[in-house]
Amino acid sequence: MSEIIEKILKLKEEKGAVILAHNYVNAEIQDIADFTGDSLELSIKAKNSKAGVIVFCGVSFMAETAKLLSPDSTVLHPVKEAGCAMADMAKAEDIAAYRKKNPDTVLIAYVNTTAAAKAQVDICCTSANAEKVVSSIPEDKKIMFLPDRNLGTNVINSTGRQMELWPGFCPIHNRVEPKVIREARKAHPEALVMVHPECHPVTVAEADIVLSTGGMLRAVKESDAKEFIVGTEYGIIHRLQKENPDKKFYPLEPRPTCQDMKLITLEDILHCLESGDGEVILDPAVMERARLPIDRMLEL
Ligand code: 13P
Ligand code: SF4
Repeated sequence: MSEIIEKILKLKEEKGAVILAHNYVNAEIQDIADFTGDSLELSIKAKNSKAGVIVFCGVSFMAETAKLLSPDSTVLHPVKEAGCAMADMAKAEDIAAYRKKNPDTVLIAYVNTTAAAKAQVDICCTSANAEKVVSSIPEDKKIMFLPDRNLGTNVINSTGRQMELWPGFCPIHNRVEPKVIREARKAHPEALVMVHPECHPVTVAEADIVLSTGGMLRAVKESDAKEFIVGTEYGIIHRLQKENPDKKFYPLEPRPTCQDMKLITLEDILHCLESGDGEVILDPAVMERARLPIDRMLEL
């Protein structure tokens, strides 16, 4: 074991810390994490965590969500600059202005939003439960789904429920063109194609399976297929391969890469454990209001 990993594990023990990591972060971090998962799984882990310190390896909205759900824990985000381009497309003040103009519309926010944005909405969803959340809203209510217009359109297509859509998107998934999927299929005709619902609906139409990152991990385990084309950020392939050594995984070319997810290194984790730097601190009023839509989602 490398010296830095030994130091992290020792400090983690001493401080009663847990390391939570998203499926896209660097492989060496996934390997030392106590738990690796998708946004929904990580939220549930944070809510149930008894740890005094949570080191959250992912992007800032995920670390904020961990703090909302585990307010008594110290949540450390090793690289504060690791953000989400899509979350930045829904500013709290713009959502507040929309709400003022449309007081009867139910606002559903994808968890890829800041805590301040969550404080303006009625209920949250993740890519793992978006259909269930949308279907839970009474038929006579208008819905605004934000910020991901792709996920929103994909949910409209699968549920038939009409919604107004915020003009946000994930630049990494939105860039995946249908022809990239067709080329991958040509190269690997036996493989099942999985894509993330943040992809554009025309790309989703080319896929066999449309799932959150956690859903992909479960689907591969349960499938008899031996080969998979992975239509999401390539970092997930580390876990897919590790948990399914007898199966083959092909990334798309060019490889979808979320640079923000890659910012956190082992050195950063050691530094935040040693120094306490990177603590997530949220306005108490924002925290209280922003917890509501997440709790509503988790109660469903
Ligand atoms: P998951 O919840 O499916 O892991 O997705 C999070 C994300 O940011 C995808 O880009
Ligand atoms: Fe945000 Fe896209 Fe990165 Fe996911 S992959 S964290 S949605 S920018």
